[in-house]
Amino acid sequence: MCGIVGYIGGKNAVDIVLNGLKKLEYRGYDSSGIAVVKDEQLQIRRSIGKLKNLKENIEKNPLESNISIGHTRWATHGKPSEENAHPHTDPTKSIVIVHNGIIENYAELKLRLEKEGKEFKSETDTEVIAHLIKKHYKDNLLNAVQETLKEIKGSYALGIICKDEPNKIVCARQNASLIVGAGKGENFLASDIPALLSYTRNMIFLENGDIAELTANEITITDIENNVKKREIKNIKWDCVQAEKEGYKHFMLKEIYEQPRTIEDTFRGRIYPDEGRVYIEEIKLSKEDIKSISNIYVVACGTAYYSGLVAKFLFENFAKIPTEVDIASEFRYREPILNDKVLIVIVSQSGETADTLAALRLAKSKDCTILAVCNVVGSSISREADHVVYTHCGPEIGVASTKAFTGQLTALYMVSLDLACKKESLSKEEIKKYLKELWEIPVKIGDFFKQSETVYEVAKRFANKRDFLYLGRHVNYPIALEGALKLKEISYIHAEGYAAGEMKHGPIALIDDDMPIIAIAVKSKVYEKVISNIGEAKARGATVIIIASESDKTASNNGDNVIYVPDCDEFVSPILSVIPLQLLAYYVAVVLGCDVDQPRNLAKSVTVE
Ligand code: AGP
Repeated sequence: MCGIVGYIGGKNAVDIVLNGLKKLEYRGYDSSGIAVVKDEQLQIRRSIGKLKNLKENIEKNPLESNISIGHTRWATHGKPSEENAHPHTDPTKSIVIVHNGIIENYAELKLRLEKEGKEFKSETDTEVIAHLIKKHYKDNLLNAVQETLKEIKGSYALGIICKDEPNKIVCARQNASLIVGAGKGENFLASDIPALLSYTRNMIFLENGDIAELTANEITITDIENNVKKREIKNIKWDCVQAEKEGYKHFMLKEIYEQPRTIEDTFRGRIYPDEGRVYIEEIKLSKEDIKSISNIYVVACGTAYYSGLVAKFLFENFAKIPTEVDIASEFRYREPILNDKVLIVIVSQSGETADTLAALRLAKSKDCTILAVCNVVGSSISREADHVVYTHCGPEIGVASTKAFTGQLTALYMVSLDLACKKESLSKEEIKKYLKELWEIPVKIGDFFKQSETVYEVAKRFANKRDFLYLGRHVNYPIALEGALKLKEISYIHAEGYAAGEMKHGPIALIDDDMPIIAIAVKSKVYEKVISNIGEAKARGATVIIIASESDKTASNNGDNVIYVPDCDEFVSPILSVIPLQLLAYYVAVVLGCDVDQPRNLAKSVTVE
């Protein structure tokens, strides 16, 4: 997620903006920039890499002003580069803008502007907004922004200044956090609280649709129709560390709760359920390319590998393409049959996992087509793949992967439907149905969070156990594996994920009341089978915790503890059923006093073999 800071008042705006950006570094970024108005001219400095590079740039080319906006960029559209770094301007350098979010309709807007003869310097969606504001600008920046936002679809937090109105900053918020800091004779703008705490604790949390105009002494908030909005000024008591986690105790918990938004950000602008359409700009495979694919290998490590196991069901049931899933460190040495008819799907949050990168290179050497699902723009894997579908999750700070995993599932679900569309292996109605199911997931996850207290009670009851068995079938067998991994990683308790149907072929010997069983028993075509496996376990004295669908009225008869998730189609259910398992692992680790965000022995990205 990008960082935005703005200042207008009587002090040196450049120092305040740079200090604020420094406080937002934890959000992750790959380039940065700053703009000021001085002597009725815009002056801009941008640098790739860390903020120190921008500071060196400014030392060489000093800036001084009482008004400034700055930005740290986490690349989504366009690689990390100075050209793509924010701020961006219109061609006349009258308007300058910083942006966090994703403009869904930027491609059509950019095409329209290009047809009007406009030229673009960057690959970003943000530059389109600068052009539009200039186009609408007559003599009032606020009005020009209001008119521009009527054309924009998507998520945005914007900071804008204009050389002809050097005494104001205009900002706007839609599905991306933006905060106004209220000072005395000065006002501030930031994506997040930590950037402001050194200067003011009086903050206004802009709401969706708000457009604010800041001068040194006034804050005016309106909507796109210029209706004035009244917003409360809140006094924030947090210290900096609390603020970076937005009040959550750990980054992992914050990232678990971010998932409704990160899933929506990943499918935003890419799926159109009413039209039964998928549009993944980064996939350049033609219908003929797709029809010529003989088979797919999904290759990854750890949690990413489990997303691949789910993808197998999606590629085979939706796109009707035979699919195998490999652990990258095994794939490299088993002499897989590879040629130019094979599609390799590489899944990696960091894009730097050594084994996964090596597997990519092996497949590339055999002329396979490489499609990567990655969370980090410009990472090694994203650069070496032929096609990259980015998950727009923002940086994942917790070592245990949560939002990146559901981002991977979301991306793989979209890719499988994209392939199905192009192969015509599903009807239009089926495509619409599955897209609608994905569309509804963020709200359903939000509804599930009402169960968090139940999950916490279960965690407290079983945190002292030393072994757990996780059971699942079909698309939720990989989720049993992932749930077990989450518990192992952060609470150091031994846990095994197992195919529910396999339990009677061995693990059933382990069962006693000291080894709780977590069974994923959501409504699906294998539901009855899972229930009978749970019965086998209970008959041998097992204590069973069931993840059940809300509509399942018999769940409490089958399990000793029930955690309900909203009903959904079985193929999209892994995105939902993993959430209680993430929370359960988190709460058990907290009860045990473990280091949740930095578990022992683990690294966020395993860049060694
Ligand atoms: C997940 O919780 C782990 N941190 C780990 O298994 C991780 O998924 C694996 O190392 C792969 O990392 P990547 O997605 O960055 O390639």
